[in-house]
Amino acid sequence: MDSITLRRPDDWHLHLRDGAMLAGIAPESARHFGRAIIMPNLVPPVVTGAQAQAYRDRITAALPADSGFTPLMTLYLTEESDPADIIAAHQSGLVTAVKLYPAGATTNSTSGVRDFDKVRPVLEAMAEHGIPLCVHGEVVDSDVDIFDREAVFIDRVLDPIRRRTPGLRVIMEHITTRQGVDYARAGGDDLGATITTHHLVINRNAILVGGIKPHYYCLPVAKREEHRLALRAAATSGDASFFLGTDSAPHTDPLKENACGCAGCFTATNTMSILAEVFEQENALDRLEAFASLNGPAFYRLPANETRVTLTKGDPVSYPAKIDTGDGPVTVFDPMMPLHWRVG
Ligand code: DOR
Ligand code: ZN
Repeated sequence: MDSITLRRPDDWHLHLRDGAMLAGIAPESARHFGRAIIMPNLVPPVVTGAQAQAYRDRITAALPADSGFTPLMTLYLTEESDPADIIAAHQSGLVTAVKLYPAGATTNSTSGVRDFDKVRPVLEAMAEHGIPLCVHGEVVDSDVDIFDREAVFIDRVLDPIRRRTPGLRVIMEHITTRQGVDYARAGGDDLGATITTHHLVINRNAILVGGIKPHYYCLPVAKREEHRLALRAAATSGDASFFLGTDSAPHTDPLKENACGCAGCFTATNTMSILAEVFEQENALDRLEAFASLNGPAFYRLPANETRVTLTKGDPVSYPAKIDTGDGPVTVFDPMMPLHWRVG
């Protein structure tokens, strides 16, 4: 097979930032994707419907009028979030989902949740109104090893929340472990999981072997090889629980190549070429459409995109090593393998 046509893919977890960075990187996602769930971890975070509306306007203004790209907005859940505002923003169509960050878990998460009991009324209201909750699933307890944060979160936080909030629709964002795969697979119709492009490609050796490689550092941090293989099996299985959320998360080079470097891999530019390569390696090109274009909309109860994209196999694809933004250069994720599939 040297060409494959898919419904236009969507990205169910994306960081677009703001200002000059937004202007520089938004076209990278809009080129291939129809829609994306936009993360709200700006400074200050996107907490209210009014803030989401203003942010959506800034995203739209950063793209050409004919881009065909639709940002799907999220609200950042805090212990002070107002259930009425969240419900109104969802019912008006402005907001698609709410994002839960445990405080301290990742970039700009200080306004996140420390005491999960405090957000119980909001989660109950969301369950009642069918508003999806996107979850950054890592505990931050100092006694828990960073490589175990996801598995411990499932046991200590996620499973108890789901048991006491029946009907709450949850997306486990950017799962990185076999435990995450197993929990999502067994979770029924109200549970889905996104998988990033980079976690299908790298394990923790990529970050640490032969010197520290800051451009492979992200959160949740990449795990052992057995976990990468579990993620590849899940993504290529066709199982409707799993869908693409790139977590493409740009930081400028000075902030990545730093004594305390920021977490995030920027994959928007070459994600579709990488995914085609991965799915071909797994003899699963016929399931790429389910992962990138069908399972996500089905979980979010939205129609799949009507337009299509064609991927064609040929000589190795060239793509920029960096995207120049008004804020500085952003390094594009290097998958450490030639890519042969181009979009269009
Ligand atoms: O690697 C990451 N980068 N993980 C996150 O959870 C946040 C993101 C960011 O905003 O930079
Ligand atoms: Zn993210």
